[in-house]
Formats: sequence, C-alpha cells, structure tokens
Amino acid sequence: MKLCVFALATILSICTVCAGDIKPATSDELIALVAKRNALTLVTPKPVKMPELIWTLCFRPPGPADKVHADHNPNGHYKVFVTDNGAAAMKNEKATFPVGAVIVKEKLMTKDAKDSVLFTGMLKREKNYNPDCGDWEFFLVSGDGKTVTERGMLKSCIVCHLDYSASDFVTKKYK
Ligand code: HEC
Repeated sequence: MKLCVFALATILSICTVCAGDIKPATSDELIALVAKRNALTLVTPKPVKMPELIWTLCFRPPGPADKVHADHNPNGHYKVFVTDNGAAAMKNEKATFPVGAVIVKEKLMTKDAKDSVLFTGMLKREKNYNPDCGDWEFFLVSGDGKTVTERGMLKSCIVCHLDYSASDFVTKKYK
C-alpha cells in the first residue's frame, strides 16, 4: 500500500512538472532563435520567390491602402527555417508539429539580399492556446532582428493560415 501511495505521488509530481514545463518562449528567446536561424533546419534550400500579393499580406497587419501599395515588391524572396523538433512534421503534409516547434520565415527584398526585411514566425503553443488555428502563436520580428514587434493570436495572420488546416495551418509548400 505504501508503495502504491509512493508510486502515485511520484507519478503526480512528474505530471505536475510536465504541465509546468510548457513555458511559452519569451520574446528574448524568439529574438535569440531568429539570430541563430542558420543553426536551425533550413526548409528552403535556396530563397524562394514570393508572389507579390503574399509579400504584401504575409507581412504585417494590413495598413492603409497607400502603405500596402508602398510594400509592393515584385522581387521579394523568402527562406523558411524550422527548429529541429519540427523538421519531420515539415516534411510530412498531414503531420502535426510538436509543442515548442518554431517556424521562421525570413523575407528578403531580392534573392541575393544580405539584409532581411522582416521575420514572420509561428510558435506551437500548449494545447488549447489557439484551438481554432492549431494552437499556433504568430509573431513578427523586425528586419534587424532586434524587436518582436507583435505576437499572439494575430487575426491578420490567422485569416490566411486557416486555409492550410489540412497541414497543421502551415503551408509546407515552398517553390
Ligand atoms: C495572404 C495570406 C497570408 C497572410 C495574411 C499571412 N500569411 Fe504567412 N504564409 C502565407 C503563404 C502563402 C505562405 C507560404 C510561403 C509563401 O508563399 O510566401 C506563408 C508562410 C508563412 C510561414 C512559414 C510557414 C508556412 O506556413 O509555410 C510563417 C512562419 C508565416 N507565414 C507567418 C505569418 C505571420 C506571422 C503572419 C501575420 C503577420 C502571416 N503569416 C500572414 C500566407 C499568408
């Protein structure tokens, strides 16, 4: 009986530790991850050309029409990186990403640009964080990599990524 109680107590304490373990990344951690993106799994072997409309919209919350026009860029390219724990899910269309996986999309003005324009990212949060959109948290990091300008259940991102529900709200197609 004593052993049972001990076993139960151990199991309970392990569960508590597990539950407490799911900490969302802090903004500093997201910035550090973006800074070290070259150590992550590169999903796009070379920069991929971005359709003009996506360049404008998969960017930041929609602004006034004139600003959207200014964002117009026919030469925009992007790279996609994923943390190692999400690499397998990225390759398998139907797979769901594990909690803690982060996907970073780096936007470049041109194919060969050295400086980034902006980073958009998705962080897989704990269950029920964002049940309508795969429990993803969306975030934006400035082009200089220094500031998380926005993060959360960003509606402007969700509206589009809902289209990719069959592949865990991630497009998984880069060409
Ligand atoms: C107009 C639709 C649209 C909107 C709005 C949008 N995205 Fe995307 N997003 C895409 C498409 C399409 C891709 C695939 C790559 C490409 O073609 O640029 C993509 C790719 C991504 C990726 C790489 C993972 C993946 O799904 O392939 C991330 C990360 C991302 N978007 C984050 C964001 C964030 C953060 C926002 C909000 C600021 C956002 N997106 C808003 C359409 C959109």
